[in-house]
Amino acid sequence: MQDFWIFGYGSLIWRPDFPFLESRPGNICHWSRRFWQGSHDHRGTKNRPGRVLTLIASEGKLCYGRAFRVTKEVLAHLDQREKNGYKRHDVSIQLPSTRVAGIVYIASQQNAAFLGDAPLEAIADQICQSEGPSGSNVEYLTKLADALKGLRINDDHVFRLDALVRKKLGLDTN
Ligand code: BEZ
Repeated sequence: MQDFWIFGYGSLIWRPDFPFLESRPGNICHWSRRFWQGSHDHRGTKNRPGRVLTLIASEGKLCYGRAFRVTKEVLAHLDQREKNGYKRHDVSIQLPSTRVAGIVYIASQQNAAFLGDAPLEAIADQICQSEGPSGSNVEYLTKLADALKGLRINDDHVFRLDALVRKKLGLDTN
């Protein structure tokens, strides 16, 4: 059986909706998580797109997440799920005791749904206002932030947005 490692940095961390053979904490080099990708198919609509994660090239930065060893059927499932601008990239994943070759899904600046940078307040407002077929954009952000905290992964961009959104909506902070 052919198997692959996939690196998860977003919803794959808190909602892997596929079977996997094993899962390990991991990191990849020279990438940072950013809420710079528009979502009209999962966390927003065509008229009111949400904001979801992509990876931005960041020299010297480590992006921490979770790696999954999966079969090729799972790749086909993810290709379909992430068809709105994401492409597979080959990546080297550092696992706790070894390095493996793997795949990560990245939405590059060239894709039509890419939104790019904006003031954090504006990103937070957009997240507060967006909802799509997969649920609210707020859920996507807050579940990610909770999962990162649970894994003891620090991410300033995500945690600052999470704090802003919780404050705007009067949600509990943690
Ligand atoms: C992830 O959670 O790693 C992920 C993010 C965007 C697209 C596919 C996967």
